[in-house]
Formats: sequence, structure tokens, C-alpha cells
Amino acid sequence: MNSSPIGVMDSGIGGINVLKSLIEKLPNEDFIYVADTLNCPYGTKSPEEIENLVRRVSNYLINKGCKAIVIACNTATCHSSFLLNQDKVIVLGVINPTATEAIKNSKKIALLATNATIDSGVYQEILLNANKEVVPIKCSVFVEAIEKGEINSEYARSLVFNHLKSYQNQNIDSVILGCTHFDLYKNHIQEVFKNARIVSSGKPTSIELERLLKKNNLLNPKTTKGKVYLKTTLAANLLKEQVKIFDLDYEFIEKIIV
Ligand code: DGL
Repeated sequence: MNSSPIGVMDSGIGGINVLKSLIEKLPNEDFIYVADTLNCPYGTKSPEEIENLVRRVSNYLINKGCKAIVIACNTATCHSSFLLNQDKVIVLGVINPTATEAIKNSKKIALLATNATIDSGVYQEILLNANKEVVPIKCSVFVEAIEKGEINSEYARSLVFNHLKSYQNQNIDSVILGCTHFDLYKNHIQEVFKNARIVSSGKPTSIELERLLKKNNLLNPKTTKGKVYLKTTLAANLLKEQVKIFDLDYEFIEKIIV
């Protein structure tokens, strides 16, 4: 048993979709969420730049005493292998749980992700090894719009439609939201791929995190509701505005330097 917090990181607000699933599954745990908004987007940066940013944020969370870190960002997960060589803390990325879920009952999978995630080939390797047909679609353009608050607007709807319409009649049966920001476009994406199953990272990642915490005897012994602390590398007021759409209970938001 261990009452230390769980760290969760993303380049911005996308990982809050994952955080919500983690809270639902593990309501007694405390969470520290870092939005590296100063450096958002990650998905158009080079592998070296992304790795350097992941290193800084994960060091911050390790120094805060987190017992586990969830990399709630697909792009960061692709460039986090250096974290596997340490034994200070459990590290869980979103890609393995999400790809494992997508593999079930699918033949042809559209992979919607940032440019960097697609270029890394990490998802494609897992899906092709499971004999799935993969259609990778670079969608970094969605990330900036989402961070600016273009979510349920007509602008957002047509951005998604115009970007994806050419894939509409390709017999795609499953769509991976391979960027945690894209949960916020789930309805728009479902409108394009009407009959496809949409696979998000939150739920499969929360199941895997619970399994890992149990296996390592790290579950929080508390029986009361856990606390959520939000941190940003840009402006606290901006994150405060952005999180309004999530219906999230949190203690406070603070600006940090990592
Ligand atoms: N939310 C991130 C992901 O899952 C990426 C957004 C970005 O490009 O910074 O890939």
C-alpha cells in the first residue's frame, strides 16, 4: 500500500480525458497532472525535442514523489523509452493499452494521431504484427484548434470533416484516437466514420494502471476521495479556462517551471 500521488502528463489538455478515466477507476488516489502548455504542441517537434521535454516533466513528477507516472500523451509515449531504464517509479504510456483494445474485433483501423506519433511508427508496428490493416492519418492540425478552445464549434466540425472525408468510404471498422486531445473531437470524428468503433486511451489505460498498482502493492489505502492538483508550464488562468469543459473537481491550478 502506498499513499503517494500518481503523476499524469500531457502537452496540454488532452491528457485530462485520460485523467478522468483514471479518477473513475481509482477514486481514492491523489493525482498531479502536468500540462506542458508552454511547449504545446509536441506533435510537430523532432524526436530529440520531444524526448527532452518528456525528461523534464517526468523528472518533475519523480521529484514530487509520485509512485507512478502515466504518460497521457501518445506523442510523448513514443519518445519515453529512456524511462524504462529506471526503477524509481512505475511508468505507463497510453499506446500499449490503446492498441491492445483496438486489436479486438477489428480488421481495418484508422490511426488518427499527431505527425510525430505517425512518423515514429510505434502504433503501426503493434497493429501490423497483429495482422491488422492500418490507415495512418496525420492530424496535428486538430491539436492547435483544440488548445484554442475550438471544440464544439462549426469551425471544428468542418476542420475534422474536411481533413478526414477522403477516408470515409474505405471500409474502416475501427478508429484509434491516437492523440489524447482527439477525445474532444470524438463526436465530429464519429460523424465522418459513422459505423466505426472509436477507441480512446482513457479506459484501457486506467485498467492497466490499476493492474500495475495492485501487482506492485501500491494502491492507496485511503478510503476517502483522492485529490487532484493541476499544474501548467504556461499560465494558470489559461488552464483554469480550458478545464471548464471537463467537469473536473480539483484542488488548485499552479504554474510550474520544469
Ligand atoms: N495529446 C498529445 C498526444 O496524445 C499530443 C498533442 C501535441 O501535439 O502536443 O499525442
